[in-house]
Amino acid sequence: MRLLIMGPQGVGKGTQAALLSKHYGIPAISTGDIFRYNLKNQTPLGKEAQAYIDKGELVPDELTNKIVKDRLAMDDAKNGWILDGYPRNASQVAALDAMLAELGTPLDAVVALTADHDVLMERMMKRAQIEGRSDDNPETIAKRLDVYAKETAPLLDTYKSRGVLHEFDGSGDIDAIQATIVAELGE
Ligand SMILES: Nc1ncnc2c1ncn2[C@@H]1O[C@H](COP(=O)(O)OP(=O)(O)OP(=O)(O)O)[C@@H](O)[C@H]1O
Ligand SMILES: [Mg+2]
Repeated sequence: MRLLIMGPQGVGKGTQAALLSKHYGIPAISTGDIFRYNLKNQTPLGKEAQAYIDKGELVPDELTNKIVKDRLAMDDAKNGWILDGYPRNASQVAALDAMLAELGTPLDAVVALTADHDVLMERMMKRAQIEGRSDDNPETIAKRLDVYAKETAPLLDTYKSRGVLHEFDGSGDIDAIQATIVAELGE
């Protein structure tokens, strides 16, 4: 199973991706988590990405595309994966299309989660207190939601026209949402 999970910041992509990963026995790959790991360890990649992440901007495509390409080439990704936080703009969609063509594997489905703006803001402010993510402050959150609306949300139409989009309400109970997704995608 090869899946994308999409939706605005705070909608629960990471939470649902982890459960789908367990259910289907495939790795959940989050570009945000990869960047955060590199920030924490101050790797060259982390240092390069830091300024963009702190401002709530997208890290340049060349850098992000390469990370995903390398990750999808790893052994544990041979039989499937779920990508969380990628692609985020039209050029990343094209890059992913090229990677999939090269690997000779199609994309099975795109899971899109939705929730009201108020729910998203509330969840992110709560997460800021618990996890202390430096980019979960009101100013950066607003910027990220803006980038999402302008660059990422339009990609849902792209995948809809390809017939692979499945939309779910992300504001309910975590396990209930998971059950609904699995029922729709198949066991
Ligand atoms: N595909 C990507 N392209 C460019 N930059 C990215 C990409 N994925 C992550 N980033 C960078 O990492 C930051 C954090 O990403 P991450 O997906 O963890 O957070 P998010 O957008 O707030 O979503 P969530 O609330 O689900 O964690 C982004 O704001 C961006 O700077
Ligand atoms: Mg996340």
